[in-house]
Amino acid sequence: MSVGIQVCAMMKETVKYLAGIAGPSGYGSNTTAEQVVAEEFGCCSHPHLTAIITGATSGIGAEAARVLAKRGVRVVIPARDLKKGYQVKEKILKESPEAEIILLEIDLCSFSSIQQFCSQFLSLNLPLNILINNAGKFAHKMELSEEKVEMTFATNYLGHFLLTELLMEKMAETAAETKIQGRIVNVSSVIHSWVKRQHFYFNQMLQPSNYNSTRAYAQSKLAIILHAKELARQIKLRKVNVTVNAVHPGIVKTGIIRDHKGFITDSLFFMASKFLKSIPQGASTTCYVATSPQMEGVSGRYYADCNEMQCSLLANDDAQALDLWRQTCAFIRQRLRRRQRRELEQFE
Ligand SMILES: NC(=O)c1ccc[n+]([C@@H]2O[C@H](COP(=O)([O-])OP(=O)(O)OC[C@H]3O[C@@H](n4cnc5c(N)ncnc54)[C@H](OP(=O)(O)O)[C@@H]3O)[C@@H](O)[C@H]2O)c1
Repeated sequence: MSVGIQVCAMMKETVKYLAGIAGPSGYGSNTTAEQVVAEEFGCCSHPHLTAIITGATSGIGAEAARVLAKRGVRVVIPARDLKKGYQVKEKILKESPEAEIILLEIDLCSFSSIQQFCSQFLSLNLPLNILINNAGKFAHKMELSEEKVEMTFATNYLGHFLLTELLMEKMAETAAETKIQGRIVNVSSVIHSWVKRQHFYFNQMLQPSNYNSTRAYAQSKLAIILHAKELARQIKLRKVNVTVNAVHPGIVKTGIIRDHKGFITDSLFFMASKFLKSIPQGASTTCYVATSPQMEGVSGRYYADCNEMQCSLLANDDAQALDLWRQTCAFIRQRLRRRQRRELEQFE
């Protein structure tokens, strides 16, 4: 494609975005989560659906939880800060007194905490129709998790990978019993396209020798899309009635951005303010992918502004997705075994 045609295409997309012109789904950049769910659920509530939404103690996740709970979806909020979780729950109940919100503790950068959350959730014997992997971390400084993994990669990618694995059987079982398709939504970011192939090595992402916070965040968001793609492929092979897709919510001034204080960041946001979405708009693509009948059977895709979008070439690389999957499984297995051995040694 010539540069002229590329520039024209970009300008067309920008105008479409700014004007909020609807795409093929009927929604566009300025659609809110509430509009999507009202339209997709019609006049009925959905008391038979159960959703787990990570990172629902603030921002986009809290809005998705509010909107789904208002429509009768039972919402499970895994929170690392139960006090914050309780405040969100209270706010939802004030607006929708009938809502069912379950709060459970989780720290996504800790494998043991994820295992504990899953066993607590599974012991409740509830169905699981929707899993929204939304929590996100942007670590400014190089920090290591309990498993000695760089914190952004540990929280955004590895934590959600393990969570999904531990809940997959429940989702498959629910879908088979209820004949309602299960939905997994991985919240990624357009920033995934900044990652170059030479900067995408598993061991380097676990423990980068030269830490760059934006690069670590972008790498984790690319890994999230590759996870969705490979999981979608495997689910299809297993003939399980669950779909998995990745989304970019848009640029929204939430906690994850507010943490970047300073003159340069503030100026950049002031200049880009025309492109910023509100939180209700930021939660729309997640809710669309999680609930819309238009998304029935659609899996392994990438969405933004409630419409399918192209992700980067690297994010579309099936071999890369399989390779990342294998390395992730091997790493998680090794760390879980190591911990089990240590625990057993304590009794000897
Ligand atoms: N805002 C944007 O412009 C933008 C753009 C592209 C993608 N995204 C993605 O959208 C998602 C939602 O982010 P947001 O914008 O709504 O940001 P946010 O308001 O900062 O929300 C992030 C959520 O993740 C939770 N979280 C972080 N670390 C966690 C951990 N170790 N264990 C459990 N929960 C943890 C936070 O919990 P606490 O309340 O305890 O902090 C919070 O609920 C993220 O995945 C983000 O990367 C956002």
